[in-house]
Amino acid sequence: MFDPIEAVKEYIRFPSISTDPAYKAGMEGARNHIAGILQRMGCEVEIVPAGLHPLVFAQRKGDPSWPHVIIYGHYDVQPADPIEKWDTPPFEPVVKDGKLFARGAADNKGPQMVHVAAAARLLEKHPNIPLRLSFLIEGEEEIGSPSFPDILKRLRDRLNGDFILLSDNMSPNAEQIAITCGFRGIVCINAEVTGPKSDLHSGIHGGALLNPIQALVDLCASLHTPDGRVNIPGFYDAVIPPVDWERAEVAKLPGTTEDYRQFLDIPAFHTIDGLTPQEATRFMPTLEFNGIGSGYQGTGTKTVIPSKAILKISCRLVANQDTTIIEELVIKTLEERCSKKVSLNIQREHCGSPYRVVPPGRSDTPTDQNKHLVAAFQAADKAITEVYGKPPLYTREGGSVPIISDLKKVTGMDSLMIGMFTPDSNLHAPNENLDLAMFLKGIDMSERILAGVAGVSV
Ligand code: BES
Ligand code: ZN
Repeated sequence: MFDPIEAVKEYIRFPSISTDPAYKAGMEGARNHIAGILQRMGCEVEIVPAGLHPLVFAQRKGDPSWPHVIIYGHYDVQPADPIEKWDTPPFEPVVKDGKLFARGAADNKGPQMVHVAAAARLLEKHPNIPLRLSFLIEGEEEIGSPSFPDILKRLRDRLNGDFILLSDNMSPNAEQIAITCGFRGIVCINAEVTGPKSDLHSGIHGGALLNPIQALVDLCASLHTPDGRVNIPGFYDAVIPPVDWERAEVAKLPGTTEDYRQFLDIPAFHTIDGLTPQEATRFMPTLEFNGIGSGYQGTGTKTVIPSKAILKISCRLVANQDTTIIEELVIKTLEERCSKKVSLNIQREHCGSPYRVVPPGRSDTPTDQNKHLVAAFQAADKAITEVYGKPPLYTREGGSVPIISDLKKVTGMDSLMIGMFTPDSNLHAPNENLDLAMFLKGIDMSERILAGVAGVSV
């Protein structure tokens, strides 16, 4: 059995930034690293070509009557920017105060290794265990999984599993584990407002034309009401209120709302409909501005009317909302509301559907839930309670992992998602980190879940 912490460290040393073509070698290194581990575990490994970054598909085959678990992870990471804000270099793993600091430590190299290491250990102890395993380790998650629907078609026949097991989600803290029962969907849209064909002197021409910055901020200001709602007719039409058990689980989250405010370091919350911030991030959709740019940003002043202004928007969607409907609504609204004294160019970016799974034994649990998924949920509840000392919470998350809903739509498989990073893991930010105690206990937990599904004891 390999040393899981060393395996994560080595994985991290490959800078696998999927969005930046300069990191092609890092992508390849990370891909080969995880493929090598899976191969040494005895899996048949295939590198599946994709538009940009191939996917690693590995299988431990077996009798068709055995349960078949699909383990998902992604080997790509976010860019390390702003590099100067890191305390240690982002691609040199450093352990400090029980945490492993590096880009990708939490999202997703560490958490995926929990399940890879657990499977490796279980296969060593029980070489003949009646369990089929497939590993789907993707290289395009952080850029919206553009090739995944196509890959899914090609792998469809081999993805005849019972459920998906993954940890690309969050727990409230390293002792209180969450089983995530849903992700929000996402719709990304970029917009560019163009005024004059080139930048202009604001003294010579100011007063004659609409400044693209003004046109863009007027447009932005029209998209929310003062009480925080998205001001687009129809935006909330498909939203279904949370079920009682879901609100009760959220109410059990550790820490007060005031703790959360201090964590965010903001003067006040801005939520809608009397929801707590913890509910709003899980149960409601949003329209967020992720980037805005135009004009002179340097030191001092520059009297210019810029030619262009750009905007990046993403909407988070909740269960039952449709990405195409929301994308069309937002684009139509932008087009209608933008001043006709400038021109507006809209770019559709990536989308991903929301996902929700109901654990066994709830008021709205589907009656036809896969029996191995039910066994896995039960084994997970027991293992988490024993290993971490507290039962898990069952909450939805605000983030998005679009392929989980794609997999559900195409294969019918649901996902068991166990949070292996925490709010202070600094995902996508400087000083990203993984709690190593949580990680090591996670391997124990995952081993018990897999054993539970296979019907053997560890
Ligand atoms: N691991 C995250 C998703 C996540 C974050 C789940 C926080 C739960 C809590 C994932 O790698 C991610 O960052 N996804 C992107 C979506 C993608 C389409 C760029 C996201 O949520 O922004
Ligand atoms: Zn991410």
